[in-house]
Amino acid sequence: MTLSNKITIKHIAIIMDGNGRWAKEQGFKRTKGHEAGAESIRDITTYCAGHDTIETATFYAFSTENWKRPKLEVEFLMKLLDTYLKKELATYQKHQIRFQAIGDMSAFSKSLQKRIQKTEALTKDNTNLIQVLALNYGGRAEITMAVNSLIQSGKKEVSEDDISHALQTSYQDIDILIRTSGEERISNFLLWQISYAEFYFTPTLWPDFTAKELDTILHNFTQRHRRFGGL
Ligand code: FPP
Repeated sequence: MTLSNKITIKHIAIIMDGNGRWAKEQGFKRTKGHEAGAESIRDITTYCAGHDTIETATFYAFSTENWKRPKLEVEFLMKLLDTYLKKELATYQKHQIRFQAIGDMSAFSKSLQKRIQKTEALTKDNTNLIQVLALNYGGRAEITMAVNSLIQSGKKEVSEDDISHALQTSYQDIDILIRTSGEERISNFLLWQISYAEFYFTPTLWPDFTAKELDTILHNFTQRHRRFGGL
């Protein structure tokens, strides 16, 4: 047993789940749960920016399946994202956080697309952390897109490395994948990047998830040993 095979956490990914249940428990409308969820994103991101080894935190903010929700809820989520990015700019700059979006943003309104691009541009030189929001994102779609772009570039055969680098994420494997609210599913999130990830499922609903709980999770995980298929 050597120290070198202990986890150095560089990339964490989170499936934020349970906003609706949280709101119901408090007697609020579902939208209130999403607002509270946005606050949690800020707290967790700020924690990650202050962490010694974390370089990237990726959050599943809107899946390709989320369009199936009632129109009013989808509209609310879009508006909330716009407000969040506008408001968060100060936090990004203060804590040196670079914002990046992955997913197919072409389905969003032009003004939201502009907000996303502007926030990416304004924060591109920040170096403490990359906060990635997966928006209208699906893991299979991302892999399919990567392979198609390789075919278009003239490749007849592709390697794992080729695919890794053609993905939307500037390629970085995930060390820990967390899902809140007690559900134990991957839901088409970062399928390629989680190959060697450690999974952690917590019953905590996303709006109740705190930096303190994350700190405990990370501490426990650094004690685990990854063998990457070896002994
Ligand atoms: C799942 O809760 C949550 C989502 C739809 C994705 C995460 C969205 C947020 C945290 C809202 C704010 C996001 C941004 C980027 C501003 P759910 O509604 O599925 O909860 P339930 O399973 O309890 O109904």
